[in-house]
Amino acid sequence: MEMKWLGFLLVSVALLLLQLNPALCQRGQISHVVGGESNIWAVQGDPTFYQTWAYSQQFIAGDKLEFHMGPSTTKYTSEHTVVEYPDNKSFMECNPSGGMKFLQESEMPEIVIVDLPSPGMFYFGCSKQDYCTRGQRFFIKVSSAPVGRIGKK
Ligand SMILES: *[C@@H]1O[C@H](CO)[C@@H](O)[C@H](O)[C@H]1NC(C)=O
Repeated sequence: MEMKWLGFLLVSVALLLLQLNPALCQRGQISHVVGGESNIWAVQGDPTFYQTWAYSQQFIAGDKLEFHMGPSTTKYTSEHTVVEYPDNKSFMECNPSGGMKFLQESEMPEIVIVDLPSPGMFYFGCSKQDYCTRGQRFFIKVSSAPVGRIGKK
């Protein structure tokens, strides 16, 4: 009887540890839904919303960003874009020229996936209208090693 409970306890503790620390069973490869699971990529009421979300995440090289664009209804029109600013200055000025564009004007996918293959600082935002200055942007720091990763999506 006692041995049975001890075994149960050990298995429970092991499972709990794996759950708390996915780095023990997986390396990189977390797909972070930008803004959280139910977010649609758009200007939010709180201009610090996306940056606050970004600070809450731990990004490791090999992870991905998932921008959820909402249901696609109209072709050739798109309310939002996904751009990567080349550096902090362009990001601060909301100037995407020289950066990467992950969504063309003519495309309207429901999800835009951005790979984060290498460590460094990366700056993302929307290039439509004044959305960037209104907070539809964030920067992230991608690290190289999954040391002490806490599993958060
Ligand atoms: C970007 O530049 C601004 C102003 O120069 C600075 O306050 C900010 O800390 C920089 N951000 C990053 C992520 O380096």
